[in-house]
Amino acid sequence: MAYKIAVLPGDGIGQEVVPQGVKVLQAVGQTFGAAFEFEEIEVGWAAIDRYGTPLRDEDLERCRRSDAILFGANGDPRREDVSAEIRPERALLRLRKELQLFVNLRPVKVGPDLAPFSPLKRELVEGVDMVVVRELTGGIYFGQPSRRWVSDGERCAVDTMQYSESEVRRVVRFACELARTRRSRVTSVDKANVLSTSRLWREVATEVAAEYPDVTVEHQLVDSMAMRLMLEPKCFDVIVTENMFGDILTDEAAQLTGSIGLLPSASLGEQVEGSATRLGFYEPIHGSAPDIAGLGVANPTAAILSAALLLRNSLALDREAEAVEQAVARAIREGKATADVVRSGAALSTDEMGDVVAEYVREARQS
Ligand code: IPM
Ligand code: MG
Repeated sequence: MAYKIAVLPGDGIGQEVVPQGVKVLQAVGQTFGAAFEFEEIEVGWAAIDRYGTPLRDEDLERCRRSDAILFGANGDPRREDVSAEIRPERALLRLRKELQLFVNLRPVKVGPDLAPFSPLKRELVEGVDMVVVRELTGGIYFGQPSRRWVSDGERCAVDTMQYSESEVRRVVRFACELARTRRSRVTSVDKANVLSTSRLWREVATEVAAEYPDVTVEHQLVDSMAMRLMLEPKCFDVIVTENMFGDILTDEAAQLTGSIGLLPSASLGEQVEGSATRLGFYEPIHGSAPDIAGLGVANPTAAILSAALLLRNSLALDREAEAVEQAVARAIREGKATADVVRSGAALSTDEMGDVVAEYVREARQS
């Protein structure tokens, strides 16, 4: 039986990097004998231009029926009308919410080959190995009310940060389970000195921590967390936090590697008992990068590593995921890279980088 993969390139460089992820999955299929059925779906500006909405209902349903979703990026600041209601990002937010993808995993790893590209000193970053677990379907992104109005001739707006204990519990549990497979340390990030939602977060996180006596759980305020990420990034193993703090901290953490073009992410829902697959949504953490879109220079590594996360987390194809990650590591080690992380010699194009990794996947099987 073929695995059904919904392919959503979206806007900007999403159109260039996602096909590289598909290319690598095809190489995995040929090499390891897995069968994939790819179904392309338009989201973001392409869908707004064609259908007047960033994500059609029937396309949402096609995503729901797939085994996994490979996504590129949404957004184009050149077309930005900040007060517009129809926005390309709505596609992404709607998919997360409607498919109940409540956990977003963002791994950040800096080995010796990448350390020179980091804006931080080598000794600070070499050996960084953390995963940020970001809550993805709650908080200020989705709380109601969220609206604007005019009062006494003045424009006003409100957004609401809201959490229930079950929303906090399930994501903190996920983080603790994950920590058990790693170095058994969790840093829970909040703003409990100011926000009620954060005080609830800390209370529930403390209760969950008691269920995991083998995991060390520390609490950290988000502002000092932003600082510690720069000062001692190697201290962190699993970081768990609410939606918006996670959004901000993961962009910061991504820069530890020197290029945001390297980092994948996975968004997951509950594991359904008895099911061999787990619906997941996989995307590079970079955005649509309109400044370099269409030039063929974007780094497809994050999209390719997202495909590896897809193999592992949605399809339980660990060996295949490992082969993709090894192929990427080999390319980086050999200095085969796009312009953002090239050490010497000519930079590869987006497409060439995809070809190299696909080839290394095939060779991994032979050796
Ligand atoms: C991310 C992005 C999105 C978010 C945007 C595009 C809505 O920044 O995935 O981190 O804020 O969650
Ligand atoms: Mg973000």
